[in-house]
Amino acid sequence: MKEQSPKQSGAIGEPMNRVDGRLKVTGAAKYSAEYELPGLVHGVLVGSTITKGTIKSIDTRQAERAPGVLAVITYLNSPKVPGFAERDHPAEPPTAGQPLRVFHDNKVLFNDQPIAIVVADTLERARYAASLVKTQYDQDKHQTNLEANLDKGFLPVQAKKNPKSPLADYQRGEVDAYKNGATKLEAEYVIPTEMHNPMELQAIIAHWEAPDKLTVYDKTQAVMGTQRAFAKDWGIPEANVKVIATFVGGAFGNGLHNWPHETAAIIAAKKTGRPVKVVLTREQMFTMVGYRPYTWQKIGMSATPDGKLTAITHESVGQTSSYEQFTESTLQQTRMMYTSPNVTTRYRIASLDVSTPIWMRGPGEATGAFALESAIDEMAYAVNMDPLEFRVRNHTDTDPDNGKPWSTKYLKECFQMGAERIGWKNRKQQPGAVRAGDWLVGYGMGVGTFGAHRGAATVRARLQKNGQLVLQSATTDIGPGTGTAMVQIAATTLGMPPEKITFQLGNSTFPQAPSQGGSSTVNTVGAAVQDACIALRKKLQQLASATPNGAAFNAAKPEDIVISEGHLSLASDKLAKAAYADLLKQNNEAEVEVVTESKPGNDRDKYSMYSYSVHFVQVHVHPLTGEVRVKKIISCADAGTIINQKTAGNQMMGGAVGGIGMALTEGAVIDDRFGRYVTKDLADYHVPVHADAPNMEFAFVNKPDPHVNALGTKGIGEIAIIGMAPAIANAVFNATGKRIRELPITPDKLI
Ligand code: MOS
Repeated sequence: MKEQSPKQSGAIGEPMNRVDGRLKVTGAAKYSAEYELPGLVHGVLVGSTITKGTIKSIDTRQAERAPGVLAVITYLNSPKVPGFAERDHPAEPPTAGQPLRVFHDNKVLFNDQPIAIVVADTLERARYAASLVKTQYDQDKHQTNLEANLDKGFLPVQAKKNPKSPLADYQRGEVDAYKNGATKLEAEYVIPTEMHNPMELQAIIAHWEAPDKLTVYDKTQAVMGTQRAFAKDWGIPEANVKVIATFVGGAFGNGLHNWPHETAAIIAAKKTGRPVKVVLTREQMFTMVGYRPYTWQKIGMSATPDGKLTAITHESVGQTSSYEQFTESTLQQTRMMYTSPNVTTRYRIASLDVSTPIWMRGPGEATGAFALESAIDEMAYAVNMDPLEFRVRNHTDTDPDNGKPWSTKYLKECFQMGAERIGWKNRKQQPGAVRAGDWLVGYGMGVGTFGAHRGAATVRARLQKNGQLVLQSATTDIGPGTGTAMVQIAATTLGMPPEKITFQLGNSTFPQAPSQGGSSTVNTVGAAVQDACIALRKKLQQLASATPNGAAFNAAKPEDIVISEGHLSLASDKLAKAAYADLLKQNNEAEVEVVTESKPGNDRDKYSMYSYSVHFVQVHVHPLTGEVRVKKIISCADAGTIINQKTAGNQMMGGAVGGIGMALTEGAVIDDRFGRYVTKDLADYHVPVHADAPNMEFAFVNKPDPHVNALGTKGIGEIAIIGMAPAIANAVFNATGKRIRELPITPDKLI
């Protein structure tokens, strides 16, 4: 049976269905590992079984003789990567240092580091041959435990170079003033290593089309960043590297850096002269790509007896690898969220013998918010005040970090919307005071915020003879519905039906766009789509003005122009028509095209720009088993204009589920004796499933921010999860009186 969906106008805000939904659910969408190239062969990686040391010998003879094997590549026979020879082969932000030089030497820097790739005609034969590689090592002593190495925390290089860096130590008012506060608390918080684990495994097909021309079908959030990185590695022009990522099956941040398996595939393709496909196993997703770093935090806080914050000190130490410095904005919210006159922050990283971490789901802000928003709840209890009232009392109308006004801030509206919907009035301050049968009932809340970032992007808009509009930009869509939002922005700007519009992305040959990350794609690329559509209409109007009916078009208001099949017309004057054929004749072209660059203005210097979220949670906790069930989630967000209520709601839902995972189930366990993860599949590493996801409701303030861009958007992706884990932890406290400061909150911590 064919289901007919109602006609959709594509207006901004409409809960329009995803433009690529059908392709995805029918399997027609093509992901990186699914391209079929003539002569394609398969690469399987061999990982080190020690954590630190050197390879003493590596015996590949048996593997080389196995059926179907084309090559076994190790540091002994790898083609040299020109970029590796540079003394300083700098990492791309957000990391500093030097990315792992794959097969470059005999050094082992972390457990399961790729030390060989076996290439064979089938995946099975490659996998079998990989099992035949025999390696002997000289082992060094390793360190993989952050808490045992907190004293080795250091200031990241960016902060050393620039004391104004957001990573540098920060001081407002007096240093560590909380120590002299009337009511004070001091507490430590721990977030374990968490793994992204998107549905789609990390995958690449590397194809040298010529000795200096590389094409990769790669799972990445940054086609242009990937292009830059590999061009630099191989010393070839950026234009010679083509990166395709048309569909990405979830990423959560782990496509924001390039990983060793990508380089290994490119090396293998070079060596064999064949396109090489490498798909990580689920187990390798725990060792060969990034993750949320294990992070220790300490908060000192003081308040007056009537609930005014007087001081916050927030310190953090996160783990990084021995070869790269990964950093994130763990402490930013503590500087700007509350009025406190005295704020101290100290951010450190510690190098361990592990692979490099990377941003994950709301990144450092989600990590930092767990500590900050838990401490806020603790302080509300310390002064015996409702935690919502406590937050309102410490609300700030200007950014205390820099004194600038907010571009927009509707946090109080979010408080009100959320408190009503969750029934906050049913909450009792006294822990354990509400019951439902055998279960203890608790209410909790947490606030999230994330910078409303906007970068520069370029969009090509091409109106074809048949009245179809094709837009192109080198952004990616890791799942939030970017293509859908872009179509709606174009449909609204041009007054066109959405089915006539296609947005193409995920290709480095398209006009420039940044990576999809940091909640900034609609802010950046959406603004560029709007600008390109405005430029296109201007161009069409000019062209129409020179046709036989030109006078009417010349005098028309741009909004009056209607783009239809075969011709341009005017909404106010049904008789005015200009055939595309005539327009194109003016232009001497087969289609009308504009390429428009769009950049943020200088409002950024005048205003402080953030999105906000408030998460209200109700949990049930079983007093005997310690089982926590999240029963209800209400998240309210101030994210500026909402382009699509449905995809925006989906993002909030994804963030909520991620937040449940962070709070209750997720944590990678490493056996420090061997430096190896013992949780390395989805049976041992627990992510929430449907049964863990409660009744969830999402609400948006949906008021435009005129300073970020003309659309009024601020970004949603990160605030969907930032603040969720502490909301759940605070609800658990309200239910049980137990304050759990180390995630995840597993039953053993509650009984
Ligand atoms: Mo996100 S952690 O910016 O993919």
